[in-house]
Amino acid sequence: MKTTFTHDVLVIGTGAAGLSVALNLPKQLSIALISKTSLKSGSTLWAQGGIAAVLDSEDSIESHIQDTLVAGAGLCREEAVRFTVENGPKAIEWLVSQGVKFDIDESSSDPRKFHLTKEGGHSHRRILHSADATGLELSGSLADRIFENDNITVYENRVGVDLITHRKLMLPGNRCVGAYVLNIENGLVETFAARSVVLATGGASKVYLYTSNPDVATGDGIAMAWRAGCRVGNMEFNQFHPTCLYHPQAKSFLITEAVRGEGGKLLLPDGTRFMDNFDQRAELAPRDVVARAIDHEMKRLGADCMFLDISHKGKEFIANHFPTIQERCLKFGVDIARQPIPVVPAAHYTCGGIVTDLRARTDLNSLYAIGETAFSGLHGANRMASNSLLECLVFGRACADDIVSRLDISPSPPAIPEWDESLVTDSDEDVVISHNWDELRRFMWDYVGIVRTNKRLQRAKHRVDLLHQEIREYYSNYRVSNDLLELRNLVTVADLIICSAIQRKESRGLHYTTDYPSLGKEIDDTLLTPVNFSSESWT
Ligand code: FAD
Ligand code: SIN
Repeated sequence: MKTTFTHDVLVIGTGAAGLSVALNLPKQLSIALISKTSLKSGSTLWAQGGIAAVLDSEDSIESHIQDTLVAGAGLCREEAVRFTVENGPKAIEWLVSQGVKFDIDESSSDPRKFHLTKEGGHSHRRILHSADATGLELSGSLADRIFENDNITVYENRVGVDLITHRKLMLPGNRCVGAYVLNIENGLVETFAARSVVLATGGASKVYLYTSNPDVATGDGIAMAWRAGCRVGNMEFNQFHPTCLYHPQAKSFLITEAVRGEGGKLLLPDGTRFMDNFDQRAELAPRDVVARAIDHEMKRLGADCMFLDISHKGKEFIANHFPTIQERCLKFGVDIARQPIPVVPAAHYTCGGIVTDLRARTDLNSLYAIGETAFSGLHGANRMASNSLLECLVFGRACADDIVSRLDISPSPPAIPEWDESLVTDSDEDVVISHNWDELRRFMWDYVGIVRTNKRLQRAKHRVDLLHQEIREYYSNYRVSNDLLELRNLVTVADLIICSAIQRKESRGLHYTTDYPSLGKEIDDTLLTPVNFSSESWT
């Protein structure tokens, strides 16, 4: 059975970021596109609200930049914000050329008549969307285009295990030359060799007990890059989405912010509005403010949830704008055209990640990172709604351009030894994995959640150190499985989050601690450097 594959470019992850880079690369390159599950996957598939871009004649690039900077609470890298926002309209044009369909509003001032909705932090209507299932539309159309390209080979049910570098192979001039990948279908670890490698593996919100994210969001790319010697930044900034459906079987199904953008009101269990007590922007304050307000009210009242009411907009409006949410809520016995929706916050987005530049380059020669796995500097201390799909598209394109610009100088990968299993056996105690999964996600929720304290962070650090040790030992003795690989990555990411949170002695954006409740004087990113930091520059 073939277990070694060689391509020009290896793209790990098939969300908006991975699909974008693959489709922006020229057809003469052979591309491997790898997904842990299927081609249409990741958070992208579940995206609801839409994609932010300046298209309305009353809106402006400067206004979108300003709103992003304000939401980012002083930590956005301005050049990354400008780069993303300025390339927004072009990214939308590209999506349309790939067949993506957005909702239309005949009264719109835009010549293409796109319906633009509003979300928290945005001072204009600038969110393009496909009803409340924008991600489904985007994934579907881009996946169709992938299958029209003979130069792209899709490898599904494959889990990236670790990156392969010159340093690991004991070759001079450190660079990334591929990855070991677990084939879930047959349990074999395969070798993928490539001239350029792109991590597009999404975020790490599964590190928390309650999350809006799909199961694949286990921070694999961040952990792989860290192990390979790349820096990570701003991992303390986890975004909690304020409104996920509260129901034991709903698995934190998201209720899009666009519901509030279209007039939805947040209510206490007794029906009183409360957001005006916290921020003058009320329901449309940035997410950190709304999530903290809900958390505060739930704790104050000992309530299981708060409520979000859009029923005043009527059945027809709701069916047109929020058909997916309407159907899903009905399944759980909530008719949103007649009653408020029970909601709670849940972990939603990883603002930090692998340190990258405007070309999506990481610290390691020939390794790129794009999308939610990257720390591009766009989001600062708090991501503004609907900026992340935009980031995937803009940086997907920038990454493809950089790969092309280096074609003449990027060498073919060297011979790579096969994965060595000679020293491991099959696990006889999988309960260790399931127990540690649960323990990790629970203490992260309880101690490293919406509101933090020094004491809670120290407790979490103590526990994560013990888990790290146990999992390291388990990993070196037993054959790898998807669950074990994810757990190994989650514990690494949890540690990075906790260490970053401990370092930040202030409250800023999404990081709120009662021990330092105000903004600090210094405005700095939290950059963590691994012991094997790869400091050689790109050639
Ligand atoms: P993802 O779309 O998460 O894709 C990750 C890919 O990597 C998947 O294919 C996965 O299988 C693969 N993968 C992961 N690990 C491995 C591995 N080890 N080996 C192989 N493959 C791997 N943002 C917006 O801008 N607008 C919205 O309306 C919006 N709505 C959202 C709604 C929900 C419910 C959620 C969860 C998020 C939403 N977001 C939204 C955020 C946005 O969807 C994500 O940030 C974005 O889709 C991330 O895209 P990505 O390509 O970086 O990663
Ligand atoms: C939402 O629709 O509320 C999610 C939007 C986002 O996360 O950007």
